[in-house]
Amino acid sequence: MGKNIFVILINFSFVVSLFSQEKLLINTYNRQNTSLNGMWNYIVDPYENGFYNYRYEPFENSINPSRSAFFMNSKPISKSDLIEYDFNKSDSINVPGDWNTQKENLYYYEGTIWYKKSFNYSKKKSSNHVFVYFGASNYETDVYLNGKKLGKHIGGFTPFNFEITNLLKEKENFLVVKVDNKRKPDGVPTLNTDWWNYGGITRDIKIVETSQTFIQDYFIQLSPKNKHKIKGYIQLNGNNIENQSIKIVIPILKLNEEVLTNNNGFAKFEFEANDITYWSTDNPVLYNVKIKTNEEELTDQIGFRSIKTKGNLLLLNDKPIFLKGISIHEESPINKGRANSIEDALRLLTWAKELGCNYVRLAHYPHNEHIVRLADKMGILVWEENPVYWTIQWDNKSTYENAKNQLHELINRDKNRASVIIWSMANETPTSSSRNAFLTNLANETRKIDSTRLISAALEQSNFEGNPNIKTIDDPFAEIVDILSFNQYIGWYDGLPEKCKNVSWKITQNKPVIISEFGAGAKQGFFGDKNVRWTEEYQEFLYQETLKMVNRIEQLAGFTPWILVDFLSPRRVLPNIQNGYNRKGLISDSGIKKKAFFVLKNFYDNKK
Ligand code: GCU
Repeated sequence: MGKNIFVILINFSFVVSLFSQEKLLINTYNRQNTSLNGMWNYIVDPYENGFYNYRYEPFENSINPSRSAFFMNSKPISKSDLIEYDFNKSDSINVPGDWNTQKENLYYYEGTIWYKKSFNYSKKKSSNHVFVYFGASNYETDVYLNGKKLGKHIGGFTPFNFEITNLLKEKENFLVVKVDNKRKPDGVPTLNTDWWNYGGITRDIKIVETSQTFIQDYFIQLSPKNKHKIKGYIQLNGNNIENQSIKIVIPILKLNEEVLTNNNGFAKFEFEANDITYWSTDNPVLYNVKIKTNEEELTDQIGFRSIKTKGNLLLLNDKPIFLKGISIHEESPINKGRANSIEDALRLLTWAKELGCNYVRLAHYPHNEHIVRLADKMGILVWEENPVYWTIQWDNKSTYENAKNQLHELINRDKNRASVIIWSMANETPTSSSRNAFLTNLANETRKIDSTRLISAALEQSNFEGNPNIKTIDDPFAEIVDILSFNQYIGWYDGLPEKCKNVSWKITQNKPVIISEFGAGAKQGFFGDKNVRWTEEYQEFLYQETLKMVNRIEQLAGFTPWILVDFLSPRRVLPNIQNGYNRKGLISDSGIKKKAFFVLKNFYDNKK
């Protein structure tokens, strides 16, 4: 049947591109970098006095911005001088880290906070380029160095960087960052989410120095068409990028290839690579891959594997695989608030491994790079998701540009990670022609920049021919995705756990099916009858009944129950039970495993 491609040619030319960032530097952890993590001074600015004058005109629009603008980091120049702010005398806060869980009076704060960091910097080589790189900052971020605007980034979960080569001084640089985490109707995500709106510079921030001609970007993967070939591209940037020789060296495979860049500093390649040990969940082999130019060498650890579908089978390295998964929100099980460290990632993925998982759904937005690189090492497959969540403004062109930009930043950052197999376009979005076009355009964009991975989304489902006991997926976007996914809450939002006995699914599309969410809330330590809502027994019973029910879906390729750990959400206010937490975790917010954890673990341990 011909695909109904919902492509509405959306002319964005008039949309002022708020989203044109500088090209992203990838693999910054293996580059020459200097961390700016640590204590930063900050000023809470709910009226944005540091950005607008009293006529509400942005200070930065004038050629000589007023010294009242916070990004000028002004100091009084005499005893009578009037400056009504002082970063150095203001409180300080840790970066990376959300402000909500660091300062009690900022727990619910949604607004603007200014950060300031002073630092000295000596370049390793005068001809080098220098950038400031943010792992993420939620949600709108304006960045200034030494009083000059570097740029603006919109989106709370993806990296961005600005070049500072010509603004940098040896001594007393001051980096001022304005972060505004107010939710916006035209935002991505929009106003309503079921997670906490953590604000701030929530991930690592660093100075990255590159050579004069540097490796901007690269994509090195197993050829999807030939498992004995490695293919990809390298993009140079900087002063001298044409006809440059680049070496790609993989010592263990005794590979030492050379390519030449074109006039744009770009080189595509594909070469034979025999004796590869394919990356897999049982044997997550990562190869040291060196990219050498005549000015610099960049190493990455890359796994080579293939991921495909064949009818309703999901194939890893041409073998069927069942995804024994769990959903995860990016919350620190150690310090509360946004997770951002290797320790956070290790704790979360170790719990997933204890559960018997070979797969995780990093919901509902891009998580930090640490957890993805750790998944590579631990042999855990990953679903990554763009925060196109619930009621997005489908007809708003700048909303689409925002979603597309965030997706580009995610794919650019993680396209060399073997563990990442699925890019998810959205979660539980109401069907309409504009939503179908929005998501289809995003899927087309994704396939343009990365044709090696699979596309999915938590789709809408309905009753088959009106029968409430037979569910089906009639979401138009099902024709576009590679993997069908849906969230279902039979036994929690839809009836009681007994209902599972009578429900089945009739999936008409010949594609693999992943159930992206199911689950129930339980207050850890609240024991009682399995029919009493919020008891651990109720959650345990729901898992027992659901696992029997979903096993009846013949093309089931896996699932990611909702969710590994209880998480903070402003929607969950039931006293003594929720107290601000969504309680569907299999592990409580204090790290105690609930009874349902062992039901799922037993299922996975016995799943062939
Ligand atoms: C939805 C949604 C989740 C939410 C969950 C719940 O399916 O995707 O973000 O937390 O249900 O209601 O707990």
